Amino acid sequence: MTREEACSRDAADPLARFAEAFALPDGVIYLDGNSLGPPPLAAQARLAEAARSEWGEGLIRSWNSAGWIDAPLRVGGKIARLVGAKPQEVAVADSTSVNLFKLAAGALSLRPGRTTILSETGNFPTDLYTLQGLAALLGERAQLKAVAPEEVVDAIDEDTAVVVLTHIHYKSARRWDMAADTAAAQAKGALMLWDLCHSVGAVAVDLNGVGADLGVGCSYKYLNGGPGAPAFLFVAQRHQGAIRSPLTGWMGHAQPFAFEDGYRPAADIRAQITGTPPILALAALEAGVDLQLEADPARVEAKGRALSDLFIAQVEAHCTDPALKLASPRDAARRGLHVSFAHPQGYAIVQALIARGVIGDFRAPDIARFGFSPLFLSFAQVWDAAAELCEVIGSGAWDNPQFRARAAVT
Ligand SMILES: Cc1ncc(COP(=O)(O)O)c(C=O)c1O
Repeated sequence: MTREEACSRDAADPLARFAEAFALPDGVIYLDGNSLGPPPLAAQARLAEAARSEWGEGLIRSWNSAGWIDAPLRVGGKIARLVGAKPQEVAVADSTSVNLFKLAAGALSLRPGRTTILSETGNFPTDLYTLQGLAALLGERAQLKAVAPEEVVDAIDEDTAVVVLTHIHYKSARRWDMAADTAAAQAKGALMLWDLCHSVGAVAVDLNGVGADLGVGCSYKYLNGGPGAPAFLFVAQRHQGAIRSPLTGWMGHAQPFAFEDGYRPAADIRAQITGTPPILALAALEAGVDLQLEADPARVEAKGRALSDLFIAQVEAHCTDPALKLASPRDAARRGLHVSFAHPQGYAIVQALIARGVIGDFRAPDIARFGFSPLFLSFAQVWDAAAELCEVIGSGAWDNPQFRARAAVT
């Protein structure tokens, strides 16, 4: 594709208007919305207003008068629309790691007698670490079995309580078949728990359409909720009431303000909320979710695929270094909305690109990763980013000590 053709795609893009809704610095092509989405202008305004008026003037009265106490379910209900769930099936709470712990433990409570939590090797580390911690805590009652992705389906058996998979892989962007894999788990009597961190706001997800049992996801990536924004969790209606959270905080009590000594779980999704919700973070997140809800999800996914296809095609056509290899599925239907290239100098290449205003990230040991958030990226920007990548590699501009120094966050 020529740059002129990329500009023509932008002129015909029904999502192009959304770019104006974000605060992004001039001269930056932001290919890291799959890691930390940029701030929506509305989120910045909402944060300032919540701090000034709701916190500053309303003070503690705002728990009632500004609807703070309802925020986890209100925002959860909005996220539900993005993942094919009913509003009463989703709540915003804690982090993805904590929600995974709660729901995996909850799954064991729903499948007494079964001890295996099944996942894939190479899953996002927090998923494996959290499940390892849960298994260590429960001793004989639970074990984590992590097998290669191609072995997962065959490994589901009569002892499997829950299968925990990340719908879109954080490194490769490889995508599981949600419907088929949920059915495979349930055919053996296991529950299916999906990690939707790289899916929500990026690709169409239909949790109830596939009959999923449980789900978690973060909101600081494609939902643009802000750094460390609270995560969400999904519990299918049929499991609410029966599923038990191991973190029985007061906000999950049937009547938090009765201040009883004994824990009585709420009968609904509120039982999965642990403690006091982070109100300012929820305010920013709600603005991000509201913006996302204005866009047609099918168009969002289609544009994301087209942007990633364009990037792959341009890089492969113009970058002749044989060491650079596509590390994501070539077929867009089998990918999420990020693209990874492996290169032995991946870290330095990404740093050199960042110095030129093209921001992607690096995942050890050798992955240069680029995200294609459809709401704020244009085809022309993606065309330019591919040209910069090829230039950085072709010219050897990455080969500079300043680009080799590893920072704490890559
Ligand atoms: C698949 C997946 N799960 C979980 C997380 C992060 O979890 P937390 O928000 O608890 O740090 C990430 C972060 O990138 C992720 O990619």
